[in-house]
This record gives sequence, structure tokens and C-alpha cells, in this order.
Amino acid sequence: MDDNVGTGGHVPVMLERVLELLAPALTGPAPVVVDANLGLGGHSEALLAAHPALHLIGIDRDPFAIEFSTRRLAPYADRTTLVHASSGDLAEVLDQAGRPVIDGALFDLGVSSPQLDEAERGFAYSYDAPLDMRMDTSQELTADRVVNTYSAAELTRILRDYGEERFAQRVAGLIIKERAKEAITSTKRLADIVRDAIPAATRRTGGNPAKRTFQALRIEVNAELSALEAALPAALDALTLGGRVVVLSYHSLEDRLTKQALTARTKDTSPPGLPVPLPAHQPRFRLLTRGAELPSDEELARNPRAASARLRAAERIRVDD
Ligand SMILES: C[S@@+](CC[C@H](N)C(=O)[O-])C[C@H]1O[C@@H](n2cnc3c(N)ncnc32)[C@H](O)[C@@H]1O
Repeated sequence: MDDNVGTGGHVPVMLERVLELLAPALTGPAPVVVDANLGLGGHSEALLAAHPALHLIGIDRDPFAIEFSTRRLAPYADRTTLVHASSGDLAEVLDQAGRPVIDGALFDLGVSSPQLDEAERGFAYSYDAPLDMRMDTSQELTADRVVNTYSAAELTRILRDYGEERFAQRVAGLIIKERAKEAITSTKRLADIVRDAIPAATRRTGGNPAKRTFQALRIEVNAELSALEAALPAALDALTLGGRVVVLSYHSLEDRLTKQALTARTKDTSPPGLPVPLPAHQPRFRLLTRGAELPSDEELARNPRAASARLRAAERIRVDD
């Protein structure tokens, strides 16, 4: 990401809806919001512009995202704390920022446009590049390491669980066979291997067959689901009464984890058969969305990358005594 990239025509996903859902929580004299996926800072910039007293804590594990957003949000420097960290460490980040209680939290999960568009980062099957896929370029695990060292069983599990790849075992099998001839080090060679492993009849439907394998590797390399499993509960626990969270997911695994975390907190957990509900078992949150909301057709026409977005939101209605 550099200045030449600008914001790359990048449009923050479901921006109006995100602003609308968070606004009621940000009306106090000194509200605090966490953007757990700062990226290019598009949502953050709009939040800072809309709420003049807002302090924003922005987190991203990609050092280039922090660098870019630091420049973009410079006009708001006195109201921002930008941290290079995984959102999995959200509780520690809030503590270190001296703001353990927050009014709003935003998760815009997944990869950013520059991560996809900069060929050398190795996220995309549409370019030939080294197999990398690290969001945090300082970490050791790369897609190359996963593809060339994981066992057939581990690869199969990852492709099946994270890529929802029907032919996980076949793809893993061909990877093992091919890497024995020569290490698989490029996105193109991997995409070719996946294509060869998928039965011809299936190949003709459902887009590029490499898509599911690349998604699976990306999730494994960046431990995306375990980060979300830690980050979302930490954000929910940090929300004050009336505080709100908005989550934008881009595949069913993220959306499922989000749904589970939110619905678990919106349920009355009183043991059945009690004559009066127990206060301590009353829900701590209420859902602000019915199921998952999708981008409008108009937004999809403007921004095809919003296509897989699913938005869920909730509000804190009870704090523990
Ligand atoms: C879709 S982009 C966010 C775009 C941003 N909302 C905007 O308007 O520019 C997702 C970002 O989340 C970051 N990310 C993904 N997983 C993360 C994690 N566990 N911790 C911190 N950042 C993460 C990625 O590096 C990427 O920059």
C-alpha cells in the first residue's frame, strides 16, 4: 500500500448501514469505538468524521494497513490510537490504550483490496506470485510452508473445514504427489494442481476451482477463525450499556461464528420451569439485525467485492453487577 494506490477506488462495505447502526451508541460526551479490522481506514474515517468527540482505536495485523491508515487518518491523529496487532489480542490492546470499556466495535473481516490486488502478497490465484498469504508480513507461517510441509490429513482437514472443498482429499493427494517432484512455491502452480485434481464435470461449474483452496490456506496461514473466536467475545465483554457491535463477514464460517457468539448472549439462560426469570440469566444483548443483512443491489453494482458480505449487529442491554 503506498500513496500511489490511494484508496484504489476502495469503497467501505455497507458503510451507510454501519454508520447508522453504530450512531446511537456514539452520542455521549467522549465515546470510544474499536475498529478491529482497520484496513484502508475507510469505515474509521467516516466514523471519525461523523462523530467529532469520538476516539477510535484501530487494529490491523497488516503493517501496511497501519502505515496507510496512519497517513489517511492524520487529520484525526489526536483522536486515534492505531495498533499493529491481531484482533485476537483485542482485550490487551484496549487495556494498553487505557480504554477497557468501549461504546462501539466494528469487525470488517477478511482481506483488504490491496492484499488481493498486490500480486506479490500471494493471496490471489489470478496472478502468479510466491505462495505467501500472510496478512502480518512479520510472522513465519506462509502458504508455502503449509502446502509443502503439512501432512495429507492436515491438508485435507483444512481444505474441507476452511474451504468447504468437496474434493479436499483429492486436492490434498495431488499436492502431496506434486510437491514430492518439486516444492510448490507459486500461486499459479498451486492453482493448476487444484484444477487438475477437480473432476472435469465439476470444473465447468461454480467459478475458479482454486477459490476454495486459496480461501482455506488464507484462513490457516492467518489463523483467522481463532482470532475471531477470541476477538468478538472480548469486544462484546468490553461494551458498555447501550454499546453496539457490527460484524461484516465474508464467508459462512465467519458468519456462523458471529451468529453463535451473538445469539449465545441474546438468550435467557434461566433454567426451565422457574416461576420468575432470574436477573442474572437475562440476556445481555439484543440483536439489531434480523438474520444477516446483505448489501443492496445498488451497492453490488458499485462494488462487486461486497458480494459475499453478511452484516450482523447487536446492542448491550445489561451489564453484569
Ligand atoms: C476488509 S479489510 C478492512 C477494510 C476497512 N474496513 C476499510 O474500510 O478500509 C480487513 C482487514 O482486516 C485485517 N485483519 C484480518 N484479520 C485480522 C486480525 N485477526 N487482526 C487484525 N487485523 C486483521 C486485514 O489485514 C485487513 O486489512
